[in-house]
Amino acid sequence: MPKVSELFFKTAIVFLILGIAAGLQMAISGDHSAFPAHAHINLLGWVTSAIFGGYYALNPQKAARRIAMIHYWLYTAGVVIMLPALYVMLQGNPAIEPVVAGGSLIVAAAVLIFAFVVFSPETARSVSGVPSPSR
Ligand code: HEM
Repeated sequence: MPKVSELFFKTAIVFLILGIAAGLQMAISGDHSAFPAHAHINLLGWVTSAIFGGYYALNPQKAARRIAMIHYWLYTAGVVIMLPALYVMLQGNPAIEPVVAGGSLIVAAAVLIFAFVVFSPETARSVSGVPSPSR
């Protein structure tokens, strides 16, 4: 598996554990006020990271590019900034909203990088229809 896929999957499972912990905490306490943070930890942190990892595993040539690692670090940094701040904000601390906004913009920028990776050709050979060799 390409390194970037491995990193995305390791990060994803950490977020799933945190997301489930937040879900259990809500369910046990009966206080569901932080449910948007729980939902985003699971969907941005677990589901989306795992999809990125799967995409790079299926496209090892793209995974080998420097931009794939830039995508990983930017996306993960954005999620790590955004989600704890979102959780704190939902606990009644509106002053932290600019941090949530900053993290969100970083996540959005990383998704645009991924869009660039997806739409860019794999290699000159694959563009002409000849499958690229996989690793
Ligand atoms: C043990 C695991 C989990 C527990 C105990 C749990 C618990 C909860 C609870 C208590 C809520 C609040 C419901 C409400 O107030 O309306 C919630 C909402 C939500 N959860 Fe989870 N959850 C778990 C796993 C997951 C996973 C794995 C995902 C996604 C991959 C997920 C996605 C969501 C979403 C999207 C919402 C918001 C639903 C809405 O808008 O009403 N949850 N969860």
